[in-house]
Amino acid sequence: MSHVVETRDVVRIFKGRQKPVKAVDRVSITIEEGEIFGLLGPNGAGKTTLIKILTTLLLPTTGDAYVWGFNVVKEAHKVREIISLVSGGETPGYGILTAGENLWFFSQLYGLSSSAAKAEIRRLMTDLEFDEYAKTRMSKLSTGYKQRLNLARGLLNNPKMLFLDEPTLGLDVLTGQKLRGYIVDWAKREKKGTVLLTTHYMAEADEMCDRVAIIDRGRILACDSPLRLKEQLQKNFIMKAEVSSVQADFGFVKDLKGVIGYSQKRSIQTDTTTFKVMVTEEKVFSEIMSKMEAQNLKILSMNQAEPTLEDVYISLVGRGFADEEGAPHET
Ligand SMILES: Nc1ncnc2c1ncn2[C@@H]1O[C@H](COP(=O)(O)OP(=O)(O)OP(=O)(O)O)[C@@H](O)[C@H]1O
Ligand SMILES: [Mg+2]
Repeated sequence: MSHVVETRDVVRIFKGRQKPVKAVDRVSITIEEGEIFGLLGPNGAGKTTLIKILTTLLLPTTGDAYVWGFNVVKEAHKVREIISLVSGGETPGYGILTAGENLWFFSQLYGLSSSAAKAEIRRLMTDLEFDEYAKTRMSKLSTGYKQRLNLARGLLNNPKMLFLDEPTLGLDVLTGQKLRGYIVDWAKREKKGTVLLTTHYMAEADEMCDRVAIIDRGRILACDSPLRLKEQLQKNFIMKAEVSSVQADFGFVKDLKGVIGYSQKRSIQTDTTTFKVMVTEEKVFSEIMSKMEAQNLKILSMNQAEPTLEDVYISLVGRGFADEEGAPHET
């Protein structure tokens, strides 16, 4: 068995109220031992559904999936023994139990001996820096500490493969950084601990993942290392500009030939709009500039930019176009 995860034409259809929803549509991916693999996609793309199939919580409608060579349907109990699932924003365990008691409870479900459980709980609480909350009721923990507890619970059974569904959802910058670092270290320390994670944060995927798959409407649109995905856009030109009005609207670029994509973000506080456009030929920039002048837009800054993972995402998922509300955060 060479792949830690392998899916072959996995399809999952939900019987919707009006019409059936194909949440996962012929997904075939492989994940190698030791890889941190990211799933990126808009809301409703099918990320959680795919994770649920791989973690044996949902059955595929058709297709086959294997984790460490075990079929997720026919050998679900074997898969469960070697994996863990941690979801962001989830309530980890029981509110009336303290953080320490919750971990103890799960350690017993996982069948750890008393001494192993005590040592492991102490180690995880120290590593994830929440030992001072060991005696705090889970319901009283902040989101960040709940998520530390959640991750500790996921690591208690010493999994070979970790599934993380939006692990840094709603966390502050430093806590997010801490957990990301910990997960990357875990994958290295365990020597070939394998991770499949979903995220809406492009910078997170870029920083952590060896490879990412971009998924939309259940289908994989691209799958490669962040670097190679960005390189595919390298033949294009990207311009970033800031103009002095929150009212500025760059929607006109949609109609220009040679424009592959654009995004704009408005800042009410500074009364500015930041605009990023990707074109196939540099000469399209001058056309855009003259249209900006015609609108009397005052340009505060303008520079050429390197493609980011967000540009890759927008070019594939946004079909090139993202307005500030729908656009993910820029790196
Ligand atoms: N239990 C269910 N019953 C019916 N439809 C469902 C069910 N679970 C998910 N879906 C639908 O399947 C599609 C994929 O949902 P899924 O939760 O996998 O998306 P996601 O990529 O995880 O989105 P998000 O980024 O919002 O978490 C959506 O259209 C969703 O409405
Ligand atoms: Mg989801």
